Amino acid sequence: MAVREIVEDIYWVGTIDWDRRLFDELIPLPDGTSYNAYLVKHKDEALLLDTVDPSKKDEFFNNIEELKPKKISYIIAHHAEQDHAGCIKDVLQAYPGCRVVTNKKCKELLIDELHLEEKDFHVIRDGELFQFGNKKFQFVFAPWVHWPETFLTYLVKEKILFTCDFFGSHLASSELWASNDNHFYRAAKRYYAEIMMPFRQNIKKHLKKLSDIPIDIIAPSHGPLYQNPENIMEAYKEWVSDEVKNEVIIPYVSMHGSTQKMVYHLIEQLIKRNIKVTPYHLTSSDIGELAMALVDVATVIIASPTVLTGPHPKIVYAAYLCNILRPKARYAGIIGSFGWGSKMEKDILQLLTNLKVELLPSVITKSYPGKKDFTSLNQLAEQIAVNHKKLG
Ligand code: FEO
Repeated sequence: MAVREIVEDIYWVGTIDWDRRLFDELIPLPDGTSYNAYLVKHKDEALLLDTVDPSKKDEFFNNIEELKPKKISYIIAHHAEQDHAGCIKDVLQAYPGCRVVTNKKCKELLIDELHLEEKDFHVIRDGELFQFGNKKFQFVFAPWVHWPETFLTYLVKEKILFTCDFFGSHLASSELWASNDNHFYRAAKRYYAEIMMPFRQNIKKHLKKLSDIPIDIIAPSHGPLYQNPENIMEAYKEWVSDEVKNEVIIPYVSMHGSTQKMVYHLIEQLIKRNIKVTPYHLTSSDIGELAMALVDVATVIIASPTVLTGPHPKIVYAAYLCNILRPKARYAGIIGSFGWGSKMEKDILQLLTNLKVELLPSVITKSYPGKKDFTSLNQLAEQIAVNHKKLG
């Protein structure tokens, strides 16, 4: 991928991973991803903001060489994770004398990961100004988006904020800039759900801090850049807020149809009460879609059959994921079935201890659901409707 000029003397030198389909061996990447790195030029000298994933090293170096810097004096390393820091050592070797500009925490992580030495670093503090040629940078620490060391860099005169993973999207695109297209919005929301949601309270504080800074361009480390950052910042404000939507999601598995029958009945009852509801059949659903739905849903109903005595393993996986993502949902419930005995409900509850939810009455059916079970599901739907009305 060719180098792109963002503004005079500032270039995108990242790489696009069109075919990557999994991140951290966990997160599905239906649209691939990109590793955005940036180069600031001053005469023959250059400064880099981050590098790229080691798998894209050659392409990254080709991009740098296209701009023909005689010297790279600095790499600003915002974050130690390898998709951005993975080529730092290669740059230091290719450009002797180059130093890594980062904070103390990131320095420690990079020494552990890349076996760099103290002399390779220039350590900076929160709010510190840094001059390179005619460009003035200011560092804004933003811990826990999504690692403890992460910080952002603000290019003062140009009003460009380099945000690393913050405001990122896993999206391989030939378009450098995001538009208001729903495709970009969904990619950003999905990324927030999968990576940032557990740190909602930290992000809320960082957004407040950023509201005092005039920003023309947001340049994250994954996905498109934002020329009109108001939209993405507003979207983030909504996602991190305490507001939830009049929606229910039902992650479920059904082995012989009993749990599915219950799920379908509950869906019907919720629709009758004007509540948006989405089932996620876990044997075929993309787990990223489920994560995205968790961003602003009011109620999560987990529906499982019983395998031996516990929940279906795919339900265990989804419940564990839901627990570590810490969605802001207000209510949760369990429905499902068993043949001869079950502690499925208890096992699922033990997986949800992070959630600050009010628990709804469980509906657990022996074998195939009957009239009594459907009545209980109707009552559950009514309870959800009453709860959602209270939310306003
Ligand atoms: Fe894109 Fe946390 O690395």
